[in-house]
Amino acid sequence: MTITNVGVVGCGLMGSGIVQVAAQAGCQVLFVEANDELVKRGLGRLHETLEGLVGKGKLDAKAWDAAQARIAGTTRLEDLKSCDLVIEAMTENQPLKNETFAKLDRICPPSTILASNTSSCNVTAMAAATRRPGLVLGLHFFNPVPLMKLVEVVRTILTDDAAVETAIEWVRALGKTPVQTKDSTAFIVNRLLVPYLLDAIRVYESGLASLEDIDAAMKLGCGYPMGPGDVRGVSGASLRAPAVAQAHGHRRTARTEDREGLLPLHRHVATPERTGAGRPPGAAAGPRARAACIAREGCRRRARATCRVGEG
Ligand SMILES: NC(=O)c1ccc[n+]([C@@H]2O[C@H](COP(=O)([O-])OP(=O)(O)OC[C@H]3O[C@@H](n4cnc5c(N)ncnc54)[C@H](O)[C@@H]3O)[C@@H](O)[C@H]2O)c1
Repeated sequence: MTITNVGVVGCGLMGSGIVQVAAQAGCQVLFVEANDELVKRGLGRLHETLEGLVGKGKLDAKAWDAAQARIAGTTRLEDLKSCDLVIEAMTENQPLKNETFAKLDRICPPSTILASNTSSCNVTAMAAATRRPGLVLGLHFFNPVPLMKLVEVVRTILTDDAAVETAIEWVRALGKTPVQTKDSTAFIVNRLLVPYLLDAIRVYESGLASLEDIDAAMKLGCGYPMGPGDVRGVSGASLRAPAVAQAHGHRRTARTEDREGLLPLHRHVATPERTGAGRPPGAAAGPRARAACIAREGCRRRARATCRVGEG
C-alpha cells in the first residue's frame, strides 16, 4: 500500500514536525488539535518553520507553497476518515491514547494503519483498543523531527508484517532511516540513553567532575558528538518523568529518592543556555527566582549560585 493521505493527531512539538516532513515528502496531511485556537497555533508554527527554511535557502519558494497547500488542520477526529495512515502524537497519556485509538478504529477504513509516536506508553494496549490490532504499530520520531534521521518502527506481538513493511517504506520515503524494535518500554534509543544520562547525573552528584568536564570527557574520550548535559538540554522535553521513571525502574532497582530527585535536577541541568528557551543566553536567574525554584522543586543544588532555572 502506498501512503498518500496522512492524519496526525496532536500538533505540538512532535506532531508539527511529523506534519512538516510528511507534507514535504508529498503527502496530503490533515492534523487534529484539541480546539480551534490550537489548530491556529499549529498552522502558524508550520507556516513560520517553512518560511524560515525558505529564508535560509533550504527550501525554494515553490516547494514551500506546495508543502503548505498539502497541510490542513481540524478539531474533528472524524475528518481523518480518508487517511491511509494516522499518527497519534498527543500528550503522553495511556488512557487518552487508548481511547483515541478506539475512536480512530471506528472512523477510519479497515485498511488504515494506526501508529503512535509515543516514547513510553504501551503500543500493545492501543492495539487492543481496536478491532485491527494487526495494523497498529509505533512510529517513534526524534526531536527535532525535520533534522533527526532515525525513526523506530515498533511492532507489537499482534502487528502484521505487511503493516511494518508499509511503515518502513513510508519512513524511507520521508528520507529517514527506520530501525525495527519490539514494543517494550523505551524501545532502543531511550532504553540505552536514559541509564547513561542517569549515570552522568550520579557522576556529577558525587562530585567527580563538573558538567562541562563530563561533556568534554564523553565527546573527546568516546567520540560522541554531544556530552550527556548537551543531550539532556536538547531532548529536554522528551525526557519526561514517565519515560524516565519507567525506563529507570525497569532496568534497575532504583532508590526512590533517585526517581523523585531526577526531574528537579534535570530542570537544573537543562539550563536556558542549553535549551535555548526562555532566558537569553548568559542571563543567570536572580537570587529570588532561584529561591522560589528551590522551594518549588526541592533542588539539591541549593547551595550553588549557578542555578539558572529561575522560572518563578
Ligand atoms: N518531545 C519529544 O522529544 C518526543 C520525542 C519522541 C516522542 N515523543 C512523544 O510524542 C508525543 C507528543 O509529544 P510532544 O512533545 O509533541 O508533546 P506536546 O505537548 O508538544 O504536544 C501534544 C499535543 O497534543 C495535543 N492534544 C492533547 N490532547 C488532544 C486531543 N484530545 N486531540 C488532539 N490533540 C490533542 C495538545 O494540544 C498538544 O499540542 C508523546 O507521546 C511523546 O511521548 C516526544
